[in-house]
Amino acid sequence: MPGIVLVGAQWGDEGKGKITDLIAHDFDFVVRFQGGNNAGHTVIHGDKKLALHLIPSGIMYPSVTPLIGNGCVIDPRVLIEEMDMLEGEGFSTERLLISGNAHLIMPYHLALDHESERRLGVNEIGTTKRGIGPAYQDKATRSGIRVQDLLDEHILRLKVQTALVEKNDLLTKIYGAEPFDAETICTDYLRYAQRLTPHITESSQLLNEALHEGKWVLFEGAQGTLLDIDHGTYPFVTSSSCTAGGAVIGSGVGPTTINKVLGIAKAYITRVGSGPFPTELSDEIGAKLGNVGSEFGTTTGRARRCGWYDAVIVKYAAQVNGLTDLCITKLDVLSCLETIKVCVAYEHEGRRYTTVPGSQSAFHHATPIYEELPGWQTDITGCRTFEELPRQARDYIEYIEELSGVQVSLIAVGPDRRQTITRGWQTR
Ligand code: IMP
Repeated sequence: MPGIVLVGAQWGDEGKGKITDLIAHDFDFVVRFQGGNNAGHTVIHGDKKLALHLIPSGIMYPSVTPLIGNGCVIDPRVLIEEMDMLEGEGFSTERLLISGNAHLIMPYHLALDHESERRLGVNEIGTTKRGIGPAYQDKATRSGIRVQDLLDEHILRLKVQTALVEKNDLLTKIYGAEPFDAETICTDYLRYAQRLTPHITESSQLLNEALHEGKWVLFEGAQGTLLDIDHGTYPFVTSSSCTAGGAVIGSGVGPTTINKVLGIAKAYITRVGSGPFPTELSDEIGAKLGNVGSEFGTTTGRARRCGWYDAVIVKYAAQVNGLTDLCITKLDVLSCLETIKVCVAYEHEGRRYTTVPGSQSAFHHATPIYEELPGWQTDITGCRTFEELPRQARDYIEYIEELSGVQVSLIAVGPDRRQTITRGWQTR
């Protein structure tokens, strides 16, 4: 079955957008299956640098049908803005499909995300404040408003009015914030409906038919394994299933349709927001990685926390996602260092861990155990084959491969699509 899942193997921002863009033209469909506009993909396409938040990277290829699956939460205002941006850059969005079962992010979700983070104070999650958590919360409590509700004005009005009874109480009485007006929301959302209606579809049916006909589908994950609601560093996670299993749930296909899972990991590691991060570097090396790697969020502009490559985490990601292949991105950023450390295990209270500790407290306080490797300190951005890389860079990749137990099939040595080394990756 020709379904391939692409997922982040760390805390997001691994460079998934570039890799999706690189391989997307081999597919008939590129499907986003979770998250919303908390994601940010920077895609360099020809001389254009585009920031995508919701629309699958495949939008740039006329032969690809981009689809936003049922597992996503959609802020229609942001989606329309993104469609306008792409149209302005000369990319047609006519082919874009949106699952009628995806949930809508409503203005009160944004307000509640802000207010609950404010209330948490120093214990904040560090969310992107895009309303993601509150939207998934409503989905789980069965009070969410779905994309298909845009197609029925009566239902939309009823659902907005019903939701506001509780949301306005919460906002005004608990958080001391301003209430929302149902009429204003309905007017805005009915306007969005006019624009989005031609794109709304029964996506599960469509994808299953396509897969049955032998069409190729790329399921594009957002965020990363450690931000997964079940398998990540809870509660410092996002509210959706970012791991490979989420592709099945978030698009309505069966697990037997997936034949490869490509994990994307940075040659070092970053995270935005709060939460444990054993290999975090709060010194000048961390600052250097941040500067050389331009580690600022595509969505929020926040500086990302930087650290050494953590092999324990990637091994965990290999298991949780069933990775068949690994892609290492931003290897060129490490060229600035004399020596490079790799975390091979953790230590906590006299115990050595070679897998992610089951106890969150142990993970919080884990001390990383490092192996130090020599750097290569030479520009590798022009390398196009594995053999062209300096010996130390090849050794680094082979070491990562050995520690994860997964073949490194792709290596990125720069932001451009062409700056990629293919090492055994075959889509078809
Ligand atoms: P939320 O998804 O906005 O609720 O944020 C929850 C956590 O996930 C926060 O730590 C965010 O910084 C993080 N997060 C959400 N989306 C991304 C992403 O695309 N890249 C990296 N971190 C993200």
